[in-house]
Amino acid sequence: MPYRPEDDEIPNPLRSGLRAESTPEPCAVVVFGASGDLAHRKLMPALYNLAVGAHLPAAFGIVGVSKSEYSDQEFRADMREAVGKFSRTKPIDDELWQDFAAGIRYLAGSFDDPQTFKKLKAKLEELDKARTTRGNRLYYFATPPSTFPTLLKQLKDAGLINPPLDPCFTRVVIEKPFGHDLSTARALNRLVLETCDERQVFRIDHYLGKETVQNLLVFRFGNSIFEPIWNQKYVDHVQITAGEELGIEARGKYYEEAGILRDMIQNHVLQLVCLTAMEPPVAFDADAVRDEKIKVLRAIETLDTPEQVARNVVIGQYTAGSVAGMDVPGYQQEKDVSPGSRTPTFVALRLNIHSWRWDGVPFYIRSGKRMPKRATEIAVHFRPLPHSLFGSGRSQPNVLVIRVQPQEGIALRFSAKVPGERYRPRTVSMDFRYGSAFGSASPEAYERLLLDALRGDQTLFTRKDEVAAAWKLVGNILKVTESNEFAPPYQYEAGTWGPQAADQLLAQDGRSWRRL
Ligand code: BG6
Repeated sequence: MPYRPEDDEIPNPLRSGLRAESTPEPCAVVVFGASGDLAHRKLMPALYNLAVGAHLPAAFGIVGVSKSEYSDQEFRADMREAVGKFSRTKPIDDELWQDFAAGIRYLAGSFDDPQTFKKLKAKLEELDKARTTRGNRLYYFATPPSTFPTLLKQLKDAGLINPPLDPCFTRVVIEKPFGHDLSTARALNRLVLETCDERQVFRIDHYLGKETVQNLLVFRFGNSIFEPIWNQKYVDHVQITAGEELGIEARGKYYEEAGILRDMIQNHVLQLVCLTAMEPPVAFDADAVRDEKIKVLRAIETLDTPEQVARNVVIGQYTAGSVAGMDVPGYQQEKDVSPGSRTPTFVALRLNIHSWRWDGVPFYIRSGKRMPKRATEIAVHFRPLPHSLFGSGRSQPNVLVIRVQPQEGIALRFSAKVPGERYRPRTVSMDFRYGSAFGSASPEAYERLLLDALRGDQTLFTRKDEVAAAWKLVGNILKVTESNEFAPPYQYEAGTWGPQAADQLLAQDGRSWRRL
């Protein structure tokens, strides 16, 4: 048995490497930012679906907190509407909703005001009595990152954070972006760890809750045939696309602070890069997997100078256009966006990973809002044939496409002989589709992650050093792109795959983006 440093560690009673499948303990979930997009679109539907699947404890309650004025009744009605619209399972089960909604409370207040937290304490105590939630708390920060330090301080000052081994647990789920750059992420890590113990902190990246993302590990390390060719000897380049039809919805304020690099790249997309590029972990447990992911982040060449950034990064911002047949406004016309904003809503970049496995294999990344369609995929392009026996220009290189969403699945493109008397190759595809292969709908990422947080399982949450390593990379790019000397984002029409400069980025290397 090889030596593993964790063998010397004191066992951590709050962190289980193995998945706990039990129903969580009684608990109250406090959602800060309850009137926001995330709570409406993801959190409340996920909690409701956990109730549908009977995964929640009988003693369970929710307190929504935000500035907007609602009564408990109004908040419940608003949440019901959101669940009706965004729930994975439909229609809403009235009886179940009644019971679920009876545990929902609302508190209006400013996060800067200590009174808000005094009132929160009282609400939670009332909930403990009414729903027997027994003092267990899960705080969910569904708020802009600039509020995290205030929330932590106020919770601590109000005595709302218990020590890690207290019989009543306190856990904090922190949404991305975790920090604004490397130094703020480090400062936030310090602050978080002054207030809580790492075992109480759940830094969420909802991409890790997606079945298809978790399947990357099984695909790569649960099969023998892919691993031998998963390297620079056989792979020409990798393309990762995370495109969305959606614009910024009602999140102008948040988005102006974040932009695409903080919103999608620092977290979700780099997680996809890590899972695609990492070495096999020594075991399938949280720390072993995260150790390998960090090695990938460290091996990526940083882009520090304006020249390096200009050569490898293209940023864009959408203008008015049409997406799925609907006319949509440009970014600068969206609510809470300042005219003349330089916030990028699109980025394309070339990453070089300096390791034995990947040296010389570029990873091309693109992500954007208001693309022609929603498509997230990882495409591994294999090297072309050294010599074609069947005429030139007909055989396309093999491509393996891992479709993260939608139409989750994996396709392998290869050449086959067109029937007939001649040897004419044509590209065909072997296609595995999640939906038809397994016949059951996958849970939403937030369902899986909320349930894990309620159970205290940190496996699918990012560790503090991982967050810092990702920031180091993205922070360097941001330093350049956000300086006034750097050219503003290229404009692209909503409903297109970004500015032409993104195509040139690959054309310079004699390659082109996959047509999706
Ligand atoms: C969120 C971003 O983290 O991810 C959003 O803040 C983005 O801007 C969303 O729309 C994309 O998630 P998904 O699961 O729809 O790909």
